[in-house]
Amino acid sequence: MIAPSILNINNLNLEADLKKAAKAGITRFHIDIMDGHFVPNLSFGPQLVSDFKHAFPNLEAEIHLMSNNPGVLVPAFVKAGADLVLLHYEAMNEAEVNGWLDYLHEHQVQAGLVLNPDTPVAVLSQFAAKLDQVLIMTVYPGFGGQKYLPESADRIQQAKQVLGTKVPLEVDGGINAQTAKLAKEAGANIFVAGSYLFCQNTIEAQLAELTEALQ
Ligand code: DX5
Ligand code: ZN
Repeated sequence: MIAPSILNINNLNLEADLKKAAKAGITRFHIDIMDGHFVPNLSFGPQLVSDFKHAFPNLEAEIHLMSNNPGVLVPAFVKAGADLVLLHYEAMNEAEVNGWLDYLHEHQVQAGLVLNPDTPVAVLSQFAAKLDQVLIMTVYPGFGGQKYLPESADRIQQAKQVLGTKVPLEVDGGINAQTAKLAKEAGANIFVAGSYLFCQNTIEAQLAELTEALQ
């Protein structure tokens, strides 16, 4: 599955670009939430998610929450209509991770964890039973348009070993036709791509190339 990141879409073209991607077969969008503290950038808030779900009720909103203020933001994004919320392991202590995974499930929202490139993959094992998905960052989070980290392959393989095959593994950062292939070979199932899809050529052409690379 390809989950386009909307971070680098020209904000004034958002609706038109989402429609083009949906028309080309995309069923899930990756929405990056940056709070200016956990990462040095700001992006979207709950209003965007709620507008997205009103306009496209049949498309999934996957929230990549880059914030160490889950107490405020997790309930806000649940209320806004998030289908899946991915929490950074580094942003909270283990009791909080457990608590927020449970909170999401109690609200019928899928829940997952995100690991930064320097967080040991072994931390996933204690939460494995509660995870609907895991996101292995293939760049340090904060900005679109960065270069895929080649050490990601080992980390994807390790995550597969820890989690088994039933938890989908997603990669995010620097994904293009070449790096998606590498990540797929290592065991990734879901591919987030931002600038590759929305900042060159046409969305249709870029999606076709990425899909082809993943065959
Ligand atoms: C980075 C974000 C990514 C980003 C990906 O912090 O989590 O989702 O938008 O952008 P590209 O595909 O350009 O690396
Ligand atoms: Zn992301």
